[in-house]
Amino acid sequence: MEDLPTRKPRAVTEELRQSVYKDLSPEIEQIRNADLRRKVVDAWCYSLVRSSFKRLSEVPPWGAAGIFFLKQGSQANHLRGVARFAMKMTDDFLENYPEAIVDRDIVVAGALCHDLGKPYEFDPLNQQRWKADPSNCGDPTFRHSVYGVHLALSAGLPEKVAHICIGHSVEGQHFKLSTECTIVRHADHVWWRVAIALGLLERDSIGHAGPLATVRKTRMELEAAD
Ligand SMILES: [Fe+2]
Ligand SMILES: [Fe+2]
Repeated sequence: MEDLPTRKPRAVTEELRQSVYKDLSPEIEQIRNADLRRKVVDAWCYSLVRSSFKRLSEVPPWGAAGIFFLKQGSQANHLRGVARFAMKMTDDFLENYPEAIVDRDIVVAGALCHDLGKPYEFDPLNQQRWKADPSNCGDPTFRHSVYGVHLALSAGLPEKVAHICIGHSVEGQHFKLSTECTIVRHADHVWWRVAIALGLLERDSIGHAGPLATVRKTRMELEAAD
């Protein structure tokens, strides 16, 4: 079966660039540095044209392959939510502790790019070949956090953002993290935990949250039960 990283990538079109910008808006506008903002779009285009997904809003809203399935929306909703959480944390600290120093642009760019590797990890063709024979090259060959580093650096993002790609996930417990990565990592983890408690995830996808996780019914579920 075809090896996805060697599959010929589709061309990056202006239409794709505009769709990525739209899918990451309005949060992407919070990145003040125009070059960094452009590279965030470049990186997502770079990721998407090497996958089966035609646009960011087609990438499923999962935490990882097989776990944490949001009931609605796409991966773009998760990225934007994490960016908003990370900005709120950053802004609250900066307002109340003006002596603290945070690179807010790296926080926002890192939050919007932390799951850059998911189109690769969730790609149905990759899932199919990995599941068919994990002894061949693993399952997955690389988790999205690891492959995200490759994508981020290849697309020209600064290493500080690539560091957030790997450091936000379980790999990040094995080495020292930058301040900006610490913020995004916690924003990401809290986002998933709160979404679980609010009943926004498919029940059969939350086992990873542990036996003590509780789930509240949503308004729609309560109305349907009436
Ligand atoms: Fe992730
Ligand atoms: Fe995430």
